[in-house]
Amino acid sequence: MRSRAGAILILASVFIGGSGCDYKPRNQGKSLYNANCLSCHMDNGEGLEALFPPLANADYVLENADQLACIIRYGVKGELTVNGVKYDGEMAGNQQLSETEVSNIVHYIMVDLNHQESHSGITEIRAQLENCKED
Ligand code: HEC
Repeated sequence: MRSRAGAILILASVFIGGSGCDYKPRNQGKSLYNANCLSCHMDNGEGLEALFPPLANADYVLENADQLACIIRYGVKGELTVNGVKYDGEMAGNQQLSETEVSNIVHYIMVDLNHQESHSGITEIRAQLENCKED
C-alpha cells in the first residue's frame, strides 16, 4: 500500500514537474551549473585562484554577455582577463547541453551570479549559437 502511494506521488510530481506550470529556469540553471560548471568555477561562481576565472560579479561576463552561450557550448581558450586577473587556460565545450539548457545556465549566471535583471532569452540564445557554429 505504502509503496503504491509512493509510486503515485512520484508519478504525480513527474507530471507536475513536466507540465510547465512550475517551470523555474533559475532552478534548472542552478542544477545544470552544479552538474557542469561547479567543479571548476566553484560553488557560487567565485572561481579558483589563477586556474579558473570567476563567473559571479565578473566584468568579463557582463562585457561578453552575448558570447556566453557560445562559450558554454564550444568552450574558450587563450588569454583573457577577468576582474583584472589574467587567465591563459582552456575550457572544453559542452555540446551535450541543449539550447534550453544553455539558456537556463545563462539565466542563472546573469540573474543569480551577476544580479542582472535582463538577459538573453531563448530566441537570442538560439541566434547566438547559430552564429558561433563555424568558429
Ligand atoms: C574543467 C574546468 C571547467 C569547467 C567544467 C567549466 N569551465 Fe568555464 N572556464 C574554465 C577555464 C580554465 C576558463 C578560462 C579559459 C581561458 O583562459 O581562456 C573558463 C572560462 C569561462 C568563461 C569566460 C571567463 C569568465 O570567467 O567569465 C565563462 C563565461 C565560463 N568559463 C563559463 C562556464 C560555464 C557556464 C560552465 C558550465 C557549463 C563552465 N564554464 C565549465 C574551466 C572550466
